[in-house]
Amino acid sequence: ARTVTRTLSGPVTVGGVDVRQLAEEFGTPAYILDEQDFRARCRAWRDAFGADADVYYAGKAFLSRAVVRWLHEEGLNVDVCSGGELTVALSAGMPADRIAFHGNNKSVPELEYAVKSGVGHVVVDSYDELVRLSWIAEQQGVRQKILIRVTVGVEAHTHEFIATAHEDQKFGLSLSGGHAAEAVRRALTLDGLELRGIHSHIGSQIFDMAGFEVAARRVVGLLAEIKAEHGVELPEIDLGGGLGIAYTSEDDPAEPADIASALADIVRRECASAGLSTPRLSVEPGRAIVGPTAFTLYRVGTVKPLEGLRTYVSVDGGMSDNIRTALYDAEYSVALVSRASSAEPMLSRVVGKHCESGDIVVRDAFLPADLAPGDLLAVPATGAYCRSMASNYNHALKPPVVAVSEAGPRVIVRRETEEDLLRLDIG
Ligand code: LLP
Repeated sequence: ARTVTRTLSGPVTVGGVDVRQLAEEFGTPAYILDEQDFRARCRAWRDAFGADADVYYAGKAFLSRAVVRWLHEEGLNVDVCSGGELTVALSAGMPADRIAFHGNNKSVPELEYAVKSGVGHVVVDSYDELVRLSWIAEQQGVRQKILIRVTVGVEAHTHEFIATAHEDQKFGLSLSGGHAAEAVRRALTLDGLELRGIHSHIGSQIFDMAGFEVAARRVVGLLAEIKAEHGVELPEIDLGGGLGIAYTSEDDPAEPADIASALADIVRRECASAGLSTPRLSVEPGRAIVGPTAFTLYRVGTVKPLEGLRTYVSVDGGMSDNIRTALYDAEYSVALVSRASSAEPMLSRVVGKHCESGDIVVRDAFLPADLAPGDLLAVPATGAYCRSMASNYNHALKPPVVAVSEAGPRVIVRRETEEDLLRLDIG
């Protein structure tokens, strides 16, 4: 999948399969996912963190049953944030105790379902949820393990919409406002709950490790306060996800091993100086695992050159299969992958087929000037938050996910059909 990034044009193969053949067999648009790459990234995270830590793959980035099986086989856990994600994880055989349940407004049925399934822990996000979950666990006669999600006051340097740990936002209980400490007080007295630790997630697509370091320090600070006030040492901390990936050649992401050692060092050092034993660490990478493993394959439908401006290249998908450009002004690269071309590069904008002008997939890209209808384009790094945020806008049919492995390509999520749409429309 990664080779596409550096190629302006030329036939591309994935796992030994020519993309033209993939387009022929599975149609376009399609997400093409490299299973070996996915598994390798899982192992890299697993190995980097070692036996003293847990890696929870953040299912919101992209979840399917095949993915859950790969995670299971590679020794990762999974973080889910809805009843739907929980169902996918359980139905693919992920043991419930390796599932963490997230969300700022989980419904009562979702919480009942999670407790009944025996999820490893629920990450509690509010005072309201503490009470609700305590009641549900009591009803079911169990003690539910929980972490409390705190907002540590770090403003991650990322797009405002996806920075989640500064104070003025909906997630978690604030440290500086004293809400985190108060939630701990309540959690320790409520029946049906076993407080295991503290959770922090500071944002997404982050390159600067400093934010994680501050978060780790502040979370350990809270553990020290808890020990002083209650005489208990909580055994776990979870520092969330958020590690950035390369969308264009300008991005320079860190390696899991560097991240792991930086985080583990800080936690160890801070705990030692606070007189705490080192808690078990967990992390929740989503994008960093699945993002680079897939690209979207589109077919060009129309080419509209605008003299002195740019050329609009319309493809057969768009904001319904990748909302990130429209929503976050995200940057992607693109390459002509069905043939080589020695034509001059032309400034292009790759747009979709939806009825609005904001329907942009790649805002600025150079593509060969002889680009023509029928050519295939690949947009790399679309494994995270593209299929999972896909919509049926204009009654578009969501594209399939085709996994390529040594055994060849196979569909792991099939293309939607018009019957799928009509099945829901029962009026
Ligand atoms: N843990 C928690 C509690 C989270 O809220 C998230 C992401 C993650 C882990 C995984 O973060 P990652 O490692 O994937 O950055 N739709 C946006 C991203 C939203 C992220 C939401 N939470 C995007 O397309 O950029």
